[in-house]
Amino acid sequence: MSKVLVTGGTGYIGSHTVVELINEGFEVVIVDNLSNSNVEVLNGIEKITGVRPVFENIDCVDYVAMDNMMDKYGEIDAIIHFAASKAVGESVEKPLLYYRNNLVSLINLLQLMPVHKIKNFVFSSSCTVYGQPDILPVTENAPIKPALSPYGNTKQIGEEIIRDTIYANPTNYQSIILRYFNPIGAHASAEIGELPNGVPNNLLPFVTQTAIGIRKQLQVFGNDYDTPDGSCIRDYIHVVDLAKAHVVAVKRMLTGKSKDSLEIFNLGTGRGLSVLEIIKTFEEVNQVKVPYKIVSRREGDIEKVWADPTFANEVLGWKAVETVEETLRSAWAWELNLAKLRN
Ligand code: UFG
Repeated sequence: MSKVLVTGGTGYIGSHTVVELINEGFEVVIVDNLSNSNVEVLNGIEKITGVRPVFENIDCVDYVAMDNMMDKYGEIDAIIHFAASKAVGESVEKPLLYYRNNLVSLINLLQLMPVHKIKNFVFSSSCTVYGQPDILPVTENAPIKPALSPYGNTKQIGEEIIRDTIYANPTNYQSIILRYFNPIGAHASAEIGELPNGVPNNLLPFVTQTAIGIRKQLQVFGNDYDTPDGSCIRDYIHVVDLAKAHVVAVKRMLTGKSKDSLEIFNLGTGRGLSVLEIIKTFEEVNQVKVPYKIVSRREGDIEKVWADPTFANEVLGWKAVETVEETLRSAWAWELNLAKLRN
């Protein structure tokens, strides 16, 4: 059985990926410092899969603790590195926290890989590296635009660190960088999902929390963009589709199918939806109202971006299959289940 180290494995995308890894017969070791997640996520994973993954409460910034952890678990076949800070606004206020958390942890892992004979590395990157692309849909060959926040910059620099490290030593390392578009939704069981701390920054948790009455009103940031209804457009992808791509990526490296020691794939659906379309569809499929008002634009927002997923579809052999209706249903089912868990 191959063993995968998943950093950030109790987080939103991490926990869904752990479920898919276990379903595919992988042994999983989770490392997470619980800075933006809850240890009870392990109960949800266990309920879904029947397996409670090994969990270590460690900060990836701590080199010695990571080194000891790797000694303890012996042979690790691949690392999937999710652990990172990801709030754009907070990163503007606390840039050093972001550079430290996101880059030191990455450097630690890359340094520890040859020490522990770990060859395969999957990295969570973001469509943020494209900024506002000149051509849509955006392919992996689109130019990297200057980052609009320290958070975005950590993803760009992170990609560069990986590239330089791999190309300096392609026999010891191989990596797949996955550039996510906007993950939303939750596992079909509603046992795990997105659980933001405090007031959500992202659209979908704000929508579900407004629909259930935790928030009074959703603010739609701008309706004067150059889009059909004036609100911003994104490529919203079901988190389970996204999670499955990680399993495909790990298998690709383990079976020697990578065409290069470094490969980069867009993970999106290829379909762009506006904020107002998301709200309307959410209301329709769930038969629930989402009170909202249009307010001014949010600083730093991209007007429109959606993926060209052809390269991932054809070369990685992965495709997003969930409909947006099903995805929005799953987000609501999770919010309803959370309400039960809270009571
Ligand atoms: N939005 C609202 N109201 C809200 C929240 C969001 O109208 O309360 C809108 C935003 O303006 C945007 C869309 O919903 O048009 C999506 O916003 P999110 O915050 O959910 O997602 P972003 O596309 O802004 O952010 C994503 C990732 C970040 C990453 C960023 C880079 O979540 O991690 O892309 O562009 F940094």
